[in-house]
Amino acid sequence: MLSLRGWTVLGLGFVITGAIATLVSCSSGKQTEVKHPSYVTSGQFTTAHPTLLAAAKDYIDSYPTHVQQPIAFTHKVHLQHGMQCTDCHKGVGEGPDATIPNVQLCMSCHQVIATNKPEIKKIAAYQKKGEQIPWHRVYWFYQSAHVKFWHGPHIRAGVNCATCHGDMKQQTVAVRKAGLDMGFCVGCHRMHKAPTDCTTCHF
Ligand code: HEC
Ligand code: HEC
Ligand code: HEC
Ligand code: HEC
Ligand code: HEC
Repeated sequence: MLSLRGWTVLGLGFVITGAIATLVSCSSGKQTEVKHPSYVTSGQFTTAHPTLLAAAKDYIDSYPTHVQQPIAFTHKVHLQHGMQCTDCHKGVGEGPDATIPNVQLCMSCHQVIATNKPEIKKIAAYQKKGEQIPWHRVYWFYQSAHVKFWHGPHIRAGVNCATCHGDMKQQTVAVRKAGLDMGFCVGCHRMHKAPTDCTTCHF
């Protein structure tokens, strides 16, 4: 665990982080783009799939639960140190996307924290090359399902992250929890008297 002194340093880290994050978000406007798994195509709508298996998975709405990430990130450790979801996923309360933090935010702490660890060296190398960490998406929908999702209204209505993403304190890299199907969405919308007409969630 951290000593009192450690907490002070961490606290200072947050202040600096906040300042840097503000600068970053003002200058670039947008955070890191995250990659979809290779078999989900390009982001442009098309009914074509690169492989038959990908087409079959789309047809039965089967999604991978575990994704190999470029850095062995750990939610557990950062949350144990008192960080909040919104320190890193800054967009979540406002827009459609929660957003993934950029490498500059990571390095605002890891410039000084755990610098000798191999994973941290990898992060520093990305920054040095001027590259973002190429994270892979864990949560997404097949384009053929034509689903639109907005975080903002859910967070403002007080829906907890864990309802849809599970307990992140138990996860290192994010793991997709089963059940983000239509029944799950509509069931809760009925319960909360949120809109249930098709165009709420489909385009
Ligand atoms: C507010 C400060 C802060 C920020 C921002 C931050 N971290 Fe950390 N990180 C920590 C602390 C504290 C630890 C625990 C260090 C320890 O146990 O020695 C840690 C640990 C880690 C570890 C585990 C290192 C190991 O092998 O033990 C990884 C990997 C990591 N961070 C990656 C990241 C990435 C990627 C980002 C950006 C998305 C990030 N961190 C942003 C403070 C931060
Ligand atoms: C009602 C369910 C729900 C809740 C509550 C929810 N999410 Fe999500 N989240 C999703 C879905 C669905 C996706 C995939 C969206 C897509 O592909 O369009 C997603 C995607 C994400 C992503 C991927 C990147 C991005 O920019 O969207 C992150 C990060 C994320 N959520 C974080 C959070 C955090 C942090 C909270 C709480 C503050 C939260 N989510 C609350 C359903 C939810
Ligand atoms: C230190 C920064 C940091 C904090 C704090 C943090 N996350 Fe993350 N989160 C990340 C990074 C980096 C990724 C990309 C790697 C991965 O998928 O685990 C990520 C990924 C995710 C994803 C998967 C996104 C996708 O690809 O679809 C979800 C969901 C998520 N976080 C939810 C949360 C929630 C909920 C909290 C608070 C309980 C939280 N995170 C706190 C940095 C953070
Ligand atoms: C745990 C409950 C819950 C779950 C699960 C849930 N929602 Fe919601 N959703 C809400 C609430 C509450 C609102 C806010 C309604 C309001 O602002 O009046 C909302 C609002 C929305 C809105 C904005 C509606 C509008 O026009 O204002 C969309 C889009 C949406 N949800 C899509 C989804 C999708 C897609 C899923 C499944 C991936 C989902 N929701 C899962 C509770 C939920
Ligand atoms: C609250 C959000 C929500 C509402 C309202 C909603 N859907 Fe859905 N729908 C979803 C989600 C999420 C999926 C699952 C996508 C997946 O798993 O790939 C889905 C899947 C579907 C699919 C299967 C498509 C596929 O390839 O996966 C059809 C068809 C569909 N919805 C039609 C409808 C119709 C018709 C209505 C209106 C009566 C409706 N939906 C209302 C969220 C919603």
